[in-house]
Amino acid sequence: MHHALTRAHNLHDFRELAKRRLPRGVFEYIDRGAEDEVALRENRQAFERIRLKPRVLVDVTGRSAGASLFGQPLTMPVAVAPTGSAGLVWFQGELELAKAAAKAGIPFTLATAAMTSMETIAREAGGRLWFQLNMFADRSIGHAMVQRAANLGFEALVLTADCSVVPNREYNARNGFTVPFRMSARSAMDMLAHPRWLAGVMGRYALGPGMPKFENYPPELRTRVTGFSTSKSAARCEDLSWKDVQELRALWPRQLVIKGILRAGDALRAVELGADAVVVSNHGGRTVDGAIAPIDALPEIFNAVGGKTTILLDSGVRRGSDVVKARALGADAVLIGRPTLFGTALAGAEGGTHVLHILKTEIEREMGLLGCRTLADITPDLLAG
Ligand code: FNR
Repeated sequence: MHHALTRAHNLHDFRELAKRRLPRGVFEYIDRGAEDEVALRENRQAFERIRLKPRVLVDVTGRSAGASLFGQPLTMPVAVAPTGSAGLVWFQGELELAKAAAKAGIPFTLATAAMTSMETIAREAGGRLWFQLNMFADRSIGHAMVQRAANLGFEALVLTADCSVVPNREYNARNGFTVPFRMSARSAMDMLAHPRWLAGVMGRYALGPGMPKFENYPPELRTRVTGFSTSKSAARCEDLSWKDVQELRALWPRQLVIKGILRAGDALRAVELGADAVVVSNHGGRTVDGAIAPIDALPEIFNAVGGKTTILLDSGVRRGSDVVKARALGADAVLIGRPTLFGTALAGAEGGTHVLHILKTEIEREMGLLGCRTLADITPDLLAG
């Protein structure tokens, strides 16, 4: 095993180790939340408030976290969330992470704002692939991307519904991680202070394909990250609406997932318009700082659409017990964002694989301790109160 990984015993450890490895600008871009980070903290606290009532004296030999999603098997009820700019933590970080997900037997979601193209991912990653769409102000650009993903065989289209206005993330401005990126004395020092990252990530781009770009964008928008104002502003789409869901439903032949739902009414509307799944999410605390934690929003949403659609949940999942709690409250599966990025930052695909291995071990251990042999045994009566 890569030596950096031997020191990681749980998902929190990957964060600490990645913090040392990555320039501060890159680390904080991944790690932090919007404004005062109330939602970010709340995502963890909401999981931690939930208490469980273990079922004892149950034979739990041969237990399994195996699940099924969209009619296909999964080794555990987890998928990798879309995260833009994953290519900044490792050379072609998206491809590494996609390979890790394939190896772990779970789906990988490629973000619109990835630095590895969907064509490369489809050709080289293997496994189950989903494509996340940030709709563009010019719909023809977004629809052409959707068509490409359909032709490449992506299993699901994940429309991000909760981020059509640029959120307030002040640390990015302080770190010079701005749009457009401006090299300042501070950001130059930051990079120089992390020579392994500079050589191993940026060096490999420089010697190979050139500086990282948003490779899914059409060529005229595919500006370098060091000048990504054009591409970013083209991607903002303040008039995104339910009409887009209708249009995408007509365009997209396979699973349609709406990401960023926190209200029962919105979940119902998504189902009525033909969505196959919703992701109950506050974007990892990166958008509305006063947003409810998804795990707290889940019961109301489950009441409204449980049994009618697939319910996924993300934001703050860090332990196997969190996955069990989400299942007990009605989620079919969870997504994880930051931990797999931090794993990738340490050792590419091997790092992502290690994160997923630890999470699966924790889920299976927790199931055993709670008296559950299969996911079907994770029922609401395990929850206290
Ligand atoms: C994200 N997320 C995200 N979501 C999305 O729909 N499109 C995107 O481009 C991105 N980009 C992105 C970048 C980074 C660095 C992070 C950390 C997150 C949100 C992501 O899909 C997911 O909702 C959260 O990351 C889940 O929370 P945790 O697991 O990170 O706590």
